[in-house]
Amino acid sequence: MIKIKEIVPSVLSADFSKIEAELRAIERAGAKRVHLDIMDGHFVPNITFGPIIVRAIRKLTDLHLETHLMISEPDKYIEQFIKAGSDTIVIQVETDVNIPKELEKIRNLGANAGLVINPPTNFKALEEYLDQIDHLLIMTVNPGFGGQKLMPEVLEKVKKARPYADKYNFPVEIDGGVNLSTIERADKAGVNLFVAGSAVFSDGNPEENFTELEKRIKQ
Ligand code: DX5
Ligand code: ZN
Repeated sequence: MIKIKEIVPSVLSADFSKIEAELRAIERAGAKRVHLDIMDGHFVPNITFGPIIVRAIRKLTDLHLETHLMISEPDKYIEQFIKAGSDTIVIQVETDVNIPKELEKIRNLGANAGLVINPPTNFKALEEYLDQIDHLLIMTVNPGFGGQKLMPEVLEKVKKARPYADKYNFPVEIDGGVNLSTIERADKAGVNLFVAGSAVFSDGNPEENFTELEKRIKQ
């Protein structure tokens, strides 16, 4: 049974003009991982950053870099994102790549391989792959932007994933709308990793925000 419980800050809502200070703040607060949202303006209606920025962040921190590829052709860029320093790569189950082949490629390149599922996608779309992943990310908002409202009905997918997670030994993570008023309900549903972007970075107090969120999931 995977027992870890961690807050995973997403830099999507960080102030990139002072990204080193933002990373130091979450390090001081005790973060072990940081979530990097890669968007191509095609799979989602927003564009963020690519391997160049991942490489820069890699030079700034030893935190575990969890790279969330919200891009239509992940097969073409997985190697670049791992060479740039990603420790975990999560790809969307909705992309029309050969999922087992891409998961194997991620592992062969030395990173943890994970899948992401969007709110409208049925849990069944994951089932054939659950014995081939190191990480499962369940989106609790439609991807593309920070600061959205968590969709509570999606927590049913967390409960469905739990037995597989314990059998195949992977953490269950949620992403989107995690904040002080939603995190305890998510914790009760059996979440291991809680991505939080705006709740950590938006008001300029990442260290305090991280600590407050973490207090609510302490074992
Ligand atoms: C949304 C991204 C999320 C986002 C979370 O497409 O995948 O990681 O940064 O942001 P909040 O925590 O503000 O909902
Ligand atoms: Zn994300």
